Amino acid sequence: MGDRAKGTTLDETVADERKGRLTRDGIRIHDLADFAGMNRAGRLAATILDDIAEHVVPGQRTSEIDRLITDLIEQAGAKSATIGYKGYQHASCISVNHVVCHGIPGDKKLKDGDILNVDVTVIVDGWYGDTSRMYVAGKLGRKAERLIQVTHDALMRGIDAAKPGNTFGDIGHAIQSYVEENRMSVVRDFCGHGLGRVFHAPPNVLHYGRPGTGPVLEEGMFFTIEPMVNLGRPETKVLGDDWTAVTRDKSLSAQFEHSIGITAQGNEIFTLSPADRFHPTWDI
Ligand code: MF3
Ligand code: CO
Ligand code: CO
Repeated sequence: MGDRAKGTTLDETVADERKGRLTRDGIRIHDLADFAGMNRAGRLAATILDDIAEHVVPGQRTSEIDRLITDLIEQAGAKSATIGYKGYQHASCISVNHVVCHGIPGDKKLKDGDILNVDVTVIVDGWYGDTSRMYVAGKLGRKAERLIQVTHDALMRGIDAAKPGNTFGDIGHAIQSYVEENRMSVVRDFCGHGLGRVFHAPPNVLHYGRPGTGPVLEEGMFFTIEPMVNLGRPETKVLGDDWTAVTRDKSLSAQFEHSIGITAQGNEIFTLSPADRFHPTWDI
């Protein structure tokens, strides 16, 4: 993995005349104060994902994990972006095993060896922090471990490609080529998104693509990268609850998500884990 350019300093900020501008693709260009807002929101979302880690154990109900997340958001004086969003009623999405994304927390208990994605979006002073990562209940199986590692590394390769002058197609290509080299598949039916003072904004950040295609990245753009990777085929279907997306072939699926901002040098990750627990094997 190459070094990521980090940090926003005064001389790296977008020039005054570009502030608040929308690109021709409708992508908002943000300023230094906006980076500070996103850092606060992103840090809270990441801290909450750190804090629930010890509660992801066999026997735990996903609704209990969601309850904890709801409480942590409230204690921080923040708001959940997902409660009330298009009728969704929970502070997190919890996607277990072959659930690709948008799993609804519920009464089912986690079993030994289950892998799960927990996705949290908070609103802090109007700014949205959106991040998700993988957890394992009990003992991690070999195939699941490989899937999680490849998905994590695919996200980080996508982030490495996120710098001014590159295109969104470069990000998608970095992710897709790595995943397919590892004989896994990238989900096409869901994508990352612009965010900032809104939850979902242009552009659609595809996790597949061709180099040099799509909008050119510019300093001040904020968006998520959140690849979903399947051990089997890429196709998904949404269950009768209208939310839960699963792999059609029932193969295991994994996802990691960061919210990032494009800087003059590269990018800044708003949702870095303060406890360095982003990768699920942090305590193994
Ligand atoms: N956090 C998800 C994302 O990464 C969106 C969840 S919307 C919900 O974009 F309503 F399902 F919570
Ligand atoms: Co997102
Ligand atoms: Co999310």
